[in-house]
Amino acid sequence: MNHATRVYDSILELACNVDNPTPLVRLRRVVGLAHAEVWAKLEWYNPFGAVKDRVAQSLIKDSEERGLLTAGMRIVEPTSGNTGMALAMLANAKGYRFTATLSNKIPLEKRASLRLFGTDLRELDDDLCPAPGAPEGAIALAAKLGEEPGSFHPNQYKNPANPRAHEQTTGPEIWKQTAGKVTHFVAGLGTCGTLTGTGRFLKAQRQDIKVIGVHPVEGHDIPGVRSIKQLAQTALFAPSEYDGLIEVDNATAYQLCKRLNQEESIIAGPSSAMALAGALKHIPDEPGVVCVVIFPDNAFKYASSMQKHLPELFAGSKDTSGDPNLVNVVQLARASPDNISLADAQARVAQGAAFLDVRSLEEFTKVRAHGTTNIPLPGIVGGYAALPEDLAAPVVAICKSGMRSTYAMLLLKAMGYQDVKNVKGGTDAWVAAGLPTTSGA
Ligand SMILES: Cc1ncc(COP(=O)(O)O)c(C=O)c1O
Repeated sequence: MNHATRVYDSILELACNVDNPTPLVRLRRVVGLAHAEVWAKLEWYNPFGAVKDRVAQSLIKDSEERGLLTAGMRIVEPTSGNTGMALAMLANAKGYRFTATLSNKIPLEKRASLRLFGTDLRELDDDLCPAPGAPEGAIALAAKLGEEPGSFHPNQYKNPANPRAHEQTTGPEIWKQTAGKVTHFVAGLGTCGTLTGTGRFLKAQRQDIKVIGVHPVEGHDIPGVRSIKQLAQTALFAPSEYDGLIEVDNATAYQLCKRLNQEESIIAGPSSAMALAGALKHIPDEPGVVCVVIFPDNAFKYASSMQKHLPELFAGSKDTSGDPNLVNVVQLARASPDNISLADAQARVAQGAAFLDVRSLEEFTKVRAHGTTNIPLPGIVGGYAALPEDLAAPVVAICKSGMRSTYAMLLLKAMGYQDVKNVKGGTDAWVAAGLPTTSGA
């Protein structure tokens, strides 16, 4: 390992610490202050792209040292994305399996990266940052799966190894990089490990350093952070150790995110901009003020969020992929009464409805609901499927779990079919219910 020449024997040696700190960059154009200095700490320079890499390393190291995590075990953790990505990569490197539980509201880019990293992903209806205490949520499921033999649940939301990671790395880096001149430390609040841990180290150096937490409004769409209501139920939230709490709304965060990228040439993500907006609301514009703001990750994982919150960037764009309006149509369709139960589907088919299985021929051949005709979705999309002539004829669509058949239902309706239903749970539910199936050509 040689940090000077950046030569490493393994990715694990790239872990950030006081000998290999993440960069600290001065902000000028978006700050609008005459005297105070504002510095951004770019946490996407961590090996797996985010501040949570520090926490993941600390959770695993601590669990191994306490003999809770041994070779071949499965790690289970709820995440809003970044901790999951770091745990997935560390698990790959160290020979563990990894199961992540998370909200299906997390940007597709993050869920796709987790799948690419080989994660066993459990997506649920939950808040953007898993809601503390939600019985059907990601946190509860991880706790349950963590009880299974051969599994371990480190629990970033309660584990002291989370803030300790920052007390041992982020804090010492900032102290050294600012030559002890830092006066204000600012970070967004999710698990609160970053602010609480780094704040503890810095205040231990000089008690007058101001530690400021920034949080989004209720109902926000800034991945990774929590609103004040959620923070109230967050174990590592330690307001008595902070000097201030600042609230920032969605639009302010996303507009500043755009400015950071366009005016400072810094590829900051939305929660970085939220933290900076909070800092700019709070710090005094005086000589000697040196403010360090944590930038947890970059913008590359948030294209779909940018499309939602910075539509002006996409004005005139013909690209409809990920178009929030379409996403809403699909979400509404999935909640509509056109999604029918297995029993209702059986009744309609018995009354003569066309029963279309829109999965691939390969899936269809393996096992299918009895009485289905195979019309793969791409054929409907491409307009070359052999569909019923009569647009008034009742149609029941089915796929593996209900997603593709929702698209098929929407497309058929758009083509003029008047009576189209979608089977909730798809073939998986049909088979699980022991209903008649067929397989083979
Ligand atoms: C993008 C992003 N921003 C901010 C945070 C908040 O950091 P912490 O959990 O240390 O409070 C997280 C945490 O997951 C995050 O992923």
